[in-house]
Amino acid sequence: MSRLFERAVRGESVERFPVWMMRQAGRYLPGYRAIRAKTPFLDLCRTPELAAEVTLEPIELFGMDASIVFADILLTADAMGIEVTFPDKGGPKFLSPIRTPADVDRVHAADEERTRCVADTVSILRRELPAETSLIGFSAAPFTLCAYMIEGGSSRDYLITRQFAHAHPAAFERLLGLVADALIPYLKEQAAAGAGVLQLFDTWGAVLEPELHRRWVIPMTKRVIDGLGADRVPVIYFPGLGGEGRLEAATATGADALSVDWQTDLASAYARVGDQVRLQGNLDPAILLTDPETIRARTHAMLSQVPAGKAHLVNLGHGIHKDTPPENAAAFIDAAQSFQPRQDASA
Ligand code: CP3
Repeated sequence: MSRLFERAVRGESVERFPVWMMRQAGRYLPGYRAIRAKTPFLDLCRTPELAAEVTLEPIELFGMDASIVFADILLTADAMGIEVTFPDKGGPKFLSPIRTPADVDRVHAADEERTRCVADTVSILRRELPAETSLIGFSAAPFTLCAYMIEGGSSRDYLITRQFAHAHPAAFERLLGLVADALIPYLKEQAAAGAGVLQLFDTWGAVLEPELHRRWVIPMTKRVIDGLGADRVPVIYFPGLGGEGRLEAATATGADALSVDWQTDLASAYARVGDQVRLQGNLDPAILLTDPETIRARTHAMLSQVPAGKAHLVNLGHGIHKDTPPENAAAFIDAAQSFQPRQDASA
């Protein structure tokens, strides 16, 4: 069957714009919080029945057009020998980050046993989701996964990663290549298990200067997408926070769609790259902390910037905030699904 979201990612004409939200399964939902009260985060990711249950919660509540398998981008780092923990506060932590070229030798090919849980969750979901709901599989893009491995956790400016890239370019490139090659079978496995679309998250992709971005961030993402093969499912690439200036560069990855953050001007993004790729985004997640009326008005204002005939993929500009009232998430989904796209013969 031809699902609305998949038709839109391919750039086919659609009767309305499909919608989902980054981090749509998460702490703003009561069912998720109840499960997390009893289950550590990594155990939740590694228990397919539970991961499927939290993935389905927002679909059952709000009826988005696409669902994203519940997992985390850092599971692959862990499977490559760089162990990660998720303490209750302060975000993920790596116990021994990569800080020297010799540390790159600790990185091994991904142990597929350790990430099989994600494909298992995908299989359950494809059986349990409504037939018309798309299922998205995902991974990090190589640069962002390497940035976490080097930095050891989240960071404001990724200074240690940038220093490493400049001080040890050969080791940095080797690490990127190892990670890129590990992501290919991981993503293929998710597609084989039933993910109809894949999204690559390069959340920190824009922290590198333009020359290094062109040298590493884009080609390593392209290496992953090319590695998926000619018969791959559609791919969405998130070029990262502050990535507006990198959109033209990002089209060279070969992705079918680019996901843009809320700082990106949607009309000018369409003018610059909208003939080469589809665009996804980009409501400021802070708007979901206001009220249903404001959310409806801001969502419709955003969607009126989409040129006639384009199939926009409605989303937030980044993950939903944990303090979002669920009724505000409902208002966003409803506003997106009730929006009437402008029609035009030039589609
Ligand atoms: O979107 C979904 O609903 C699917 C699940 C998903 C999670 N993480 C679950 C999660 C996805 C697609 C991700 C991707 C991810 N993970 C990214 C890329 C997207 C982005 O947000 O930029 C990144 C950078 C990570 C790494 C990561 N995982 C961080 C930095 C954190 C802590 C941040 C926070 O909000 O606490 C996580 C933990 C995490 N991953 C949570 C969830 C629901 C919160 C965990 C919890 O305490 O329950």
